[in-house]
Order: sequence, then structure tokens, then C-alpha cells
Amino acid sequence: MLRVIFFAIIIFLGLSGGSAWAQEGTNAANVLGAPISDIATAPSHQEGFPLWAYGYITPPTAPEDWREMCVGSRPRECDRPGGMPRDTSGTLLRVEGSDLAFTQTEITAPYAPADWFPQDHPPMPDVVAHGIEEIEMRACAICHLPNGQGLMQNAPVAGLPVDYFLRQLEEMASGARQTSDHHKANGFEMAAMARALSPEQAMEIAEYYGSIPFKPWVRVIESDTVPKFTASRNGLLMKVEGDETEPLGNRLIELPEDTYNTNNLRNPRSGMVAYTPIGSLARGREIVETGGGVSVACAACHGADLRGTAIAPPIAGRQPSYIGRQLYDFQQGNRNGIMAPLMIPTVQNLSPDDLLALAAYVASLSP
Ligand code: HEC
Ligand code: HEC
Repeated sequence: MLRVIFFAIIIFLGLSGGSAWAQEGTNAANVLGAPISDIATAPSHQEGFPLWAYGYITPPTAPEDWREMCVGSRPRECDRPGGMPRDTSGTLLRVEGSDLAFTQTEITAPYAPADWFPQDHPPMPDVVAHGIEEIEMRACAICHLPNGQGLMQNAPVAGLPVDYFLRQLEEMASGARQTSDHHKANGFEMAAMARALSPEQAMEIAEYYGSIPFKPWVRVIESDTVPKFTASRNGLLMKVEGDETEPLGNRLIELPEDTYNTNNLRNPRSGMVAYTPIGSLARGREIVETGGGVSVACAACHGADLRGTAIAPPIAGRQPSYIGRQLYDFQQGNRNGIMAPLMIPTVQNLSPDDLLALAAYVASLSP
């Protein structure tokens, strides 16, 4: 444990002396001697791949390789078509608590998605609200929402430290951080956006999202069953109509509290509910607090309440699907940036069940 904290401090001092941007291309394994090179890059959807965390019920029947399909300079080339709900009737829609009304087309407008609650956040930087249409870069708000709460298929970005946020953009741009799912188009669109942003734009957006506190967003429930659900084309799992349930099995299933509010209206005040196997929260707590014989206690770096420190970002209360994907991406060596070696002792011995338990417990904490 002391060794780990020592390494954390060394890395932190190293980074704070210069800019993280300047460290691009540095192989962190050389600095730390961590066994990164032992971890082979995973083929998509291999045995042990947590389908639930990437928003699948079964692996895609025609997996696409977006590493090859998304190489141009226009981020939207990586947008898998047909992901957004369609309704061109022009009917004005509303969400509870907002005085505004938008059509479905306005709600999902790529370069000006609806902002239901402008009073919930400071004025959005231009790229958050509009993207950059000339290069077909969609607004950050269309995926991460204007308030940064994010959906299970992308990421919660509210309340992240500015230096952490900038480092992630840098590492997604360089390829040091990649999703393990080559079929995950939005992960590759994200990387293309990171490549297209200027340092000034990146800084303005990092400060914007960083200034908004992340709000409670996920209710975690232990259960044997889960409401019957379906999967969208881009990794959002959604309850289907009716009261039918199905066995949960060894999965954590995260669903919108209200499918229509999340998927159609994109209501940034309507959160998620996650069903997790009975006993998983206690196991997750044990690992978080003691390492549980397979990991390292998280508080040393992420802080007592897992609300973040100068070394590691806040993780408490964030989407369990997102947390599960990150743990798996670190484990597979696909999230391999300058600070990733600090996470290797945490993830390298996790079984799929332990990974699930960690995601469930961390998500159940108050952000
Ligand atoms: C097409 C949807 C989409 C858009 C638009 C989008 N992102 Fe993302 N973003 C993602 C996905 C997907 C991830 C990664 C999820 C994963 O790793 O599983 C992500 C992750 C991130 C992260 C990492 C968060 C963390 O905790 O490490 C940052 C930072 C980020 N995005 C910033 C931005 C910024 C800035 C913009 C606008 C310029 C933007 N995103 C626009 C989909 C999107
Ligand atoms: C030795 C320090 C250290 C320990 C111990 C540690 N972490 Fe981390 N963790 C980090 C650092 C540093 C990062 C950011 C890595 C990067 O920049 O890519 C991180 C990132 C993460 C992320 C990704 C966050 C995001 O927004 O994408 C998750 C999830 C995470 N850690 C979970 C855990 C859990 C769960 C534990 C305990 C079981 C744990 N960590 C223990 C240092 C640590």
C-alpha cells in the first residue's frame, strides 16, 4: 500500500511540474516499471467481456471495427446512423419542470440540441452547445447533456478536475486511451472530437463541465430479476413497456428510470436505475474498503468518499456501466495513459464478478 501511495505521489509531482499535454507519448511503464506490457490488447467481445457494461444483451451479430472506419478528420464519420429517435411530425414536446417546448428534431439537433433547463448550469461554451458544424463535430451536450451528467453509453463529465479532463482528451486523441469495444462507434467519435479540439477550446470546456457539481443520478437495487429490456444501437439499455421481468443472472443492468424521458426527451434531470445481483454491494464494499484480497483500497487515491483528490478523479455515484467499462479497459491495457499504471494493481486480479461488484458499490455511493 505504501509503495502504491509513494508511486502516486511521484507521478503526481512529475505531472504538476509540467503540463500533462507535454507528456504525450511518454510510456508510463518506463517511469513506474509497472507490468503494462504483459497485458495484451483485447480483441473485442472475447470471453469475459462484460456485455452489460458496454450496453449489449448479446454481442452484435455484425460487429463493425470503428478503428478502421473512423480515421478521417470529421468526427461525425464515426456516428453510427439511426441512433437517435425520429419524429418529424413537428409536435411540441415538454418535460416536467421546464417552461420550454421543443420538437423531437430540435431535441436531437446535432449542432444545437435542446437545453431544457438553462438555469441549471452556467452559460455553455460554444462547442458544448453547438459543436463545430464546419468539421461535422457534434455538440458535446448531445451526448454528455448540457449539465454534464451524461448517459450510460457515454460518460459523466460534470465535476471532473480540469487537469484530469484535459489529460483524458489528450490521451483519447493520441490513442493511449481507447475503448475495448471496437464496435463502440461513439467511443471513436469521442476520440475524433478530442483530436479536433484546440487547446483553448478544450480548456474552456474542461472549466465549464468541471464547475458543475455532479448530482445524484443512479439508484442501485439488489435483485434477482430485472424488468424486460431492449438495447439501442448505441449502448443504451431500455425497459420495454409492461411489467414483465426476466432473471438478472450475473449482470448489472442499468436502465433509464423513464425510457421516454431519457431516450426521446433527453431530460437532463431524469436519471438511471441499476439492478445488481444480491450480495454484490457487500462484496463491492469489501473490495473498495480493503482490497478484498484481489485489489487495492480505493480511498488512498480517490479520497475517503471516493469524491476525488488531486491524484485521482471522483467516481462515487457515477454510472455503473461507465465505471465497469473503465475498469475493464484498464485491465485490458486499452486505457494506457500516463496515470493508468496507478490503476493496474487495482484491476489486474479482478474477476468479472468482482469487477461488477465494484461498479455496483461505487455507483451506489453519494457523489
Ligand atoms: C457521440 C457522443 C459524444 C459526444 C458528442 C462527446 N462525447 Fe465525450 N465521451 C463519449 C464517450 C462514448 C466517452 C467514453 C466512454 C467510455 O470510455 O466508455 C466519452 C468520454 C469523455 C471524457 C472522459 C471522461 C472521464 O471521466 O474520463 C471526456 C473528458 C469527454 N468525453 C469530453 C467531451 C467533450 C469535451 C466533448 C465535446 C467537444 C464530448 N466529450 C463530446 C461520447 C461523446
Ligand atoms: C494508486 C492510486 C489509485 C488507487 C488505489 C485506485 N485508483 Fe482508480 N484511478 C487512479 C488514477 C490516477 C486514475 C486516473 C487514471 C487516468 O488518468 O487515466 C483512476 C481512475 C479510475 C477510474 C476511471 C474514472 C473515470 O472518470 O474514467 C475508475 C472507475 C477507478 N479509478 C476506480 C477505482 C476503484 C474502484 C478503486 C479501488 C478498488 C481504485 N480506482 C483505486 C488511481 C487509483
